[in-house]
This record gives sequence, structure tokens and C-alpha cells, in this order.
Amino acid sequence: METRAWWKEAVVYQIYPRSFADSNGDGIGDLNGITQHLDYLKDLGVDVIWISPFYPSPNYDNGYDISDYRGINPEFGTMEDFDRLLSEVHARGMKMVIDLVVNHSSSEHPFFIESRKSRDNPYRDWYIWKDGKNGNPPNNWGSCFSGSAWQYDEATDQYYLHLFAPQQPDLNWANPKVRDAVFDMMTWWCDKGIDGYRMDVIGMIGKENFDDGPVAPGGLYGSFESSCQHTQTTHRYIREMRERVLDRYDLLTVGEAGGTVEQAVRYASLDGKELNMIFSFEHNDALNDGTALGKWSDHQAQLQEVREILNRWQTALIGKAWNSVYLSNHDQPRQVSRYGNDGPLYRVRSAKMLATLIHLMHGTPYIYNGEELGMTNIYFTDLEQYRDVEVFNAWKQWVGSGLVHPEDMMRYFAKISRDNARTPMQWDTTKHAGFTTGTPWIEVNRNYLEINAADEVRDPDSVYHYYRKLIALRHEQKVVVYGSFVPLLEDDPMVYAYCRELDGKQMTVLCNWTQKTAPCTLKDETAGEIVLSNYALHQPGVLQPYEAIVFLN
Ligand code: NOJ
Repeated sequence: METRAWWKEAVVYQIYPRSFADSNGDGIGDLNGITQHLDYLKDLGVDVIWISPFYPSPNYDNGYDISDYRGINPEFGTMEDFDRLLSEVHARGMKMVIDLVVNHSSSEHPFFIESRKSRDNPYRDWYIWKDGKNGNPPNNWGSCFSGSAWQYDEATDQYYLHLFAPQQPDLNWANPKVRDAVFDMMTWWCDKGIDGYRMDVIGMIGKENFDDGPVAPGGLYGSFESSCQHTQTTHRYIREMRERVLDRYDLLTVGEAGGTVEQAVRYASLDGKELNMIFSFEHNDALNDGTALGKWSDHQAQLQEVREILNRWQTALIGKAWNSVYLSNHDQPRQVSRYGNDGPLYRVRSAKMLATLIHLMHGTPYIYNGEELGMTNIYFTDLEQYRDVEVFNAWKQWVGSGLVHPEDMMRYFAKISRDNARTPMQWDTTKHAGFTTGTPWIEVNRNYLEINAADEVRDPDSVYHYYRKLIALRHEQKVVVYGSFVPLLEDDPMVYAYCRELDGKQMTVLCNWTQKTAPCTLKDETAGEIVLSNYALHQPGVLQPYEAIVFLN
């Protein structure tokens, strides 16, 4: 058996604070709102809460642009509120992971305000400044949020690098003073008692060169991938972080990195030199059809594509590195809308099926707030309804240039935009779904009368109670955490199946990914006790629409 660790046995629940629960009626979720709902999370059974950024921020990217790494955004509360939240989390035997966003800061961070003042400012070298080339940016890189990755700054006649929005300048990790400042800040939060870090785009911190990158067919900008993603230098910085900070505490560390399985094995190797685990992007990127438009498409991910990717990650990492497993987060649309079926007939069954598929795999499972209720995409029809900088920049780049028809772009946004997952948590049937007594910062999904926590907590057949059972199963059965992973029926057009084994115990997981009845040929594996299913009755030899069933031998 692999070495035991609390973060391998845990289930993590991600909270997007702006959308979770508003305690003071300003329409924005806050820390006290989270504290008020800790019993709900404890009852669900989760072990760890990861809270997306709550630091002071001008909010160009909802807090992923930080202007003070040691403070609390007044919209979310005070440091006393944070301390109380942390101690209430600990009092319930849970742990708390916070977001570390240090590839870039906000352009309103005092470091950057200084840095842009003059070429000889002591903070100049804390960011990445370059001369233009013949009136153009220093190279052809495009930012992740559309447009050039370089912003011209008239005051000093140079460009600065921003791999995301212009309000998110990249910190210069090559400068040891930057690393010292980041490591000191991390130590400060660890000494406060936090239990881990989710590290935002950590694979981008080590920039190795500034050469032009390849331009995808039909694209407007070059890729920075080979210069800035998963470089040797990034691994060196992470090892330094490990030695100088992480190794001094007992933490959960998860890098938001993406990349290939080989890269994941380096970041999350069981030898413990870098991180505990990383988030892979490949399965969610299976929707991306590889054109210059990137994620903006309405391509529907097929079972074959998703299964090939997830199975490859499972089998490649087992015994070498630790997986994290998830379908949803604040950067993805709602999983039941994307991979399942959010219509009235199959929403509940398909939400449970997807949860089964993910939670019983090898790796630490992550639940994104509202996923445990089977919350769906909101399907905005008007650009005005959106709040996300990524949407507005993409609109400017693709519709503004006439390359994409507005109706197509609106269809892509409705399918894939991040705001789908950022609508307020649906607590009950009162006004604004019980999220706020004020005006919510983004519209509440109108389906809250049918989909809400209060009803689901009361209904033993709800998606919520199914998640409770799944989490309990992980806590009871070591095979879920430490078992091997054997893919089954790898060519089946309808069924996703796999088996986990540990010390003679075998757990078989069968999931019908479709709304049709699927034949199922497995015999021996389905002989054991049924420990979980989303149907009251299993019909041997077939799987009913979106049926998920788990056998233990
Ligand atoms: C990844 C975060 O998850 C996303 O929300 C953010 O926009 C970018 N990194 C930039 O920080």
C-alpha cells in the first residue's frame, strides 16, 4: 500500500467566497457567510475547505489580482472574521486550504505601483519589463485572456508582461527578493494555522526566455508555452519553496498546473520534493477543438475522449505520483451541464453518476460549491448579464475583429463561460435563493426553487445525500484511497467502468454515460455486494440511463 497521508484520504470542498453566502446584505458572499454554513459542510462529510482568494483586490479577475497578500478584502470581512472562520473550521475537525496567487499580483499592488514609477525604482525588477520592437510589443505572445501579453506603459516607455489581464502583471521570480517576499508571506499564513495551499498557475512562474512562440492556424498571437510553462526553472523555484516553507509544516499542496502526465509526475512525485498533487486540465480541455479560438466552442465532450484522458492519468500516476480528481471549479461550467444532462428527467441521475465516476478514482477528490446539489449552467442570453473579464476580452478580440459571429460567441459563452459556475449558491427557496438579502453581484439561477440545499438536505434521494454517501464510502473503504486502478470496457461506447483493488478487496464502478439503456457484459465483477447506486433497483445485464453502480467483492 502507498504511504498513508491525511491529504490522500481527504475530500476537498472548494468555496468561491463571492458566491457562497452573504451575511451582511451587500450582495457579495463573505467570510462570515462561510462560517455560518460550516455545519452544512461538516454534515456533508468533507475534510478540507479550499477558499478561493479573499485578499484585498480591485477585482478585475474576482480576487485573482491581489493588491495585499496579507489582508482581507473588506467586501469579505476582516482579519478577525478570518481568524474566527479558521478556528471554527478547526473546531469541527476540518482543515482549511487557501489560494496562493503569486505568478502575478494586481497592478494596484504597492510593489507594482513602485515598479512602474521609473526604470531605476528599487522595485523595477520585481516585474518583467522590456523594450518594444519597432513600435510593437517585445514579442508575439498572446495573454490567456485574449490580446497581447504585453502592456505598454507610457511613463517609462517600456512594456510589462501579463500572461492574464493587463491588471495582473507577472511577478519576476528570477529576482531573489521576489522569492523572499513570497516565501515570507507564505510562512506568515502557515504560522496563522492554515493547512495548505492551492497554487494558482504555478507552472508559469519560471520564465526561461522571451522568444516569439508559434501561432495557431487562424490565430492572432503566439504561444508562450515553451518559454513559460513547466520549465526547469519553475521546478527549481518550487523545490526552493518546498525547502524554505512547505517542509516546515504538514500541508496539503495542490498546484494548478495542467500539462502532461509526465509533467504531473515531476510536480507531484511521491518522493515529496515538490507538491502533493496538481490539477490536470486535459480532460476539461477535451472540449477545446484545437483551433485558435481555444476554449470557445460548443463541442460536446464524448465519453471516448474523456475516458481515454482520465484513464491515462490514473494509470500513469499510480505508484509514482498522487492524482487530484475533479470535473468542476470556478473556471469551468457546471459539470452536470457539460458532461451530464441538466434537463428535468436526468439531472439528478446524471449528477450522481458523474460524482461516482470521479470520487471513486485514485486521487484526492475536489467538490466545487453547488456541485453537491447538482447546480446547472445559467445560460445567460445577454452580454450584460456576464461579469467575467475573460468573456469581455474574448468578445473584444473575436467579435470585435469580425472573426466570430456574435450569435456563435454567445452560444460558446452560454456553454463554457466561467460565470456559469459563479452564480450564487442556492441555499433555499427564499428570495435570491437565500444567498443574500441585498442585490446579488451576479444573477441567481432561476431554477433555485427546484435546486436548493434546504430541500436536498431534507430529501434522502437528493444529489446532496448521494455525495454524503460517496464521501462516507471513501472514509470507510481504504480501497477507494489506496487501491490500484484497472480500466474495464475501454472501448464500450456507453459505459465507463473501472475496478479498484487492495488487499484482496475489489471495488467495481460502472457508469452509464448516456440517456439510453446500455448492455453490460461484466459478470464476475458484478457478483459482489452493491454498496452504492443511483437507482433503487439494478437490472442485471443492463445499465439504465445514467445509472451508476458500485460493487464490492
Ligand atoms: C487560474 C484561476 O483559477 C483563474 O480563475 C484565474 O483567472 C487565473 N488563474 C489567473 O489568476
